[in-house]
Amino acid sequence: MEKLAKHEEMEMTTDHGIDFAKMLEVKPRPMQPIHTNRSFDERALSELISSGLSSPRPLRQLETVKSSECLEGLLLSPSIRSGSLVGTPNMHHSFEPHPMISDGWDALRRSLVYFRSKPVGTIAAMDPSEDSLNYNQVFVRDFVPSALAFLMNGEPEIVKNFLLKTLRLQSIEKRIDCFTLGEGVMPASFKVLHDPVRKTDTMIADFGESAIGRVAPVDSGFWWIILLRAYVKSTGDHNLADMPDCQRGITLILTLCLSDGFDTFPTLLCADGCCMVDRRMGIYGYPIEIQSLFFMALRSAKILLKPEGEGKEFLGRIDKRLHALSFHIREYFWLDHAQLNNIYRYKTEEYSHTAVNKFNVIPDSIPDWVFDFLPMKGGYFIGNVSPALMDFRWFAIGNCMAILSSLATPDQATAIMDLFEERWPELIGDMPLKVTYPALEGHDWRIVTGCDPKNTRWSYHNGGSWPVLLWMLTAACIKVGRPQIARRAIEQVEQRLSKDGWPEYYDGKLGRYVGKQARKFQTWSIAGYLVAKMMLEDPSHLGMIGLEEDKKMKKPCLTRSASWTA
Ligand code: GLC
Repeated sequence: MEKLAKHEEMEMTTDHGIDFAKMLEVKPRPMQPIHTNRSFDERALSELISSGLSSPRPLRQLETVKSSECLEGLLLSPSIRSGSLVGTPNMHHSFEPHPMISDGWDALRRSLVYFRSKPVGTIAAMDPSEDSLNYNQVFVRDFVPSALAFLMNGEPEIVKNFLLKTLRLQSIEKRIDCFTLGEGVMPASFKVLHDPVRKTDTMIADFGESAIGRVAPVDSGFWWIILLRAYVKSTGDHNLADMPDCQRGITLILTLCLSDGFDTFPTLLCADGCCMVDRRMGIYGYPIEIQSLFFMALRSAKILLKPEGEGKEFLGRIDKRLHALSFHIREYFWLDHAQLNNIYRYKTEEYSHTAVNKFNVIPDSIPDWVFDFLPMKGGYFIGNVSPALMDFRWFAIGNCMAILSSLATPDQATAIMDLFEERWPELIGDMPLKVTYPALEGHDWRIVTGCDPKNTRWSYHNGGSWPVLLWMLTAACIKVGRPQIARRAIEQVEQRLSKDGWPEYYDGKLGRYVGKQARKFQTWSIAGYLVAKMMLEDPSHLGMIGLEEDKKMKKPCLTRSASWTA
């Protein structure tokens, strides 16, 4: 695709041989309706039967249905419902809907952003009382829960528009000072400027050149691929992903993260602040959030890419990377009681291939809090692993997405759920969900965050509680067959979120206080709640965002340290 200067974006529909308006008109394939009035138990059962099990099993409670037994069946068919697409949520409630649902939908619709009269995304926050900074933009990551809400409600058009617009933005030349970013980089956000006099709309993208800290988003491209697959899964519309431009968009993103370099690890090396945690928080290196999204995006791309030409070559590279990545993360990022004990007894300065302590982690670097935090039952993927450095902090997105992508083995996924139950006050608290645990305090905070006044202890990214994460928690709980955990978290959210004006985040160890500088009417707080509710109501939605375990992927076999066995 030809490179465009940013200000030319306006004329893009006709100037470069690609008529995007036409693309937007591509008709989805006919969709099979799902009968939402059947209970999940009934559906799971019938799908177990239709997916090839010879004899039906007795009905079980949702709480005990393991997704590994039925996930693939959950959304084999598209989940688009018939019925009204505007105004009201298109949900089929078997019970009195919570009043927050209609409030949420109203607020979500108010956040819609239009480009040439077509909805193309949702604004980050609609808080009239605060300076908008860049919250008046459509963030790629923030739009994901909005997109899922619209897909689940049978409104795929806005998602399609968003995917095509951001794809177009990808082709813009991205310059920061004298330096040009890689072709495949997707924007962190974009805004639409309406000129009422000239009656024109202009779209301006930010690839990190305006962002606080000037960091480019590594997660945007991954979210874009993940969302494209969700769209295809939900609508059955393969035409969109099959378009040459979409195929090229995928391969451009993959080119950025599959290129050969100096790496000795299959994980992706990143700058601080390159994802949801978008300012300095000591996550540079190999942050788990990016690795989980990378894994999910690779698996989604594998489904979306056509096995011909360039696509075929990429499919081979994806397979190799998935294999290495899953082994690395499952083996070296995993922490449970037994593994902590191994690390605690590590020998150091081990040279050569026989080294057990491969990254030369000095046991004295294990922070005290981990020993108290880690229960006998439960485990999680730690924040980062690089030479002589293990960041033991817990990060919600990395762990939830690891479950959803099946990067976590079934045992690991169960252990993460156990951890939620065992450490409810720490990870869920009064307002779900801690983005990271624990907070950096005192000297650590000064050194690691560079004295960031927004990320003070137990605030914002530094141990703050983010309601948006509820959708990921809910999806992960359903996938592991533990929806009661999500239900409990949602009940807590319903006590306050809407009364507090849908804040962006909460502060404090328990997440009891509306965040110091939290925006109100934060769109992803709203959409996250709606998605969580819709998923619990109809768990078949999980198929959009959950991937079944790939049985061919190598299982981890954790090696005991030499000192342990000695
Ligand atoms: C904050 C968050 C970031 C989000 C943005 C817009 O900067 O850290 O993840 O995308 O706000 O809501």
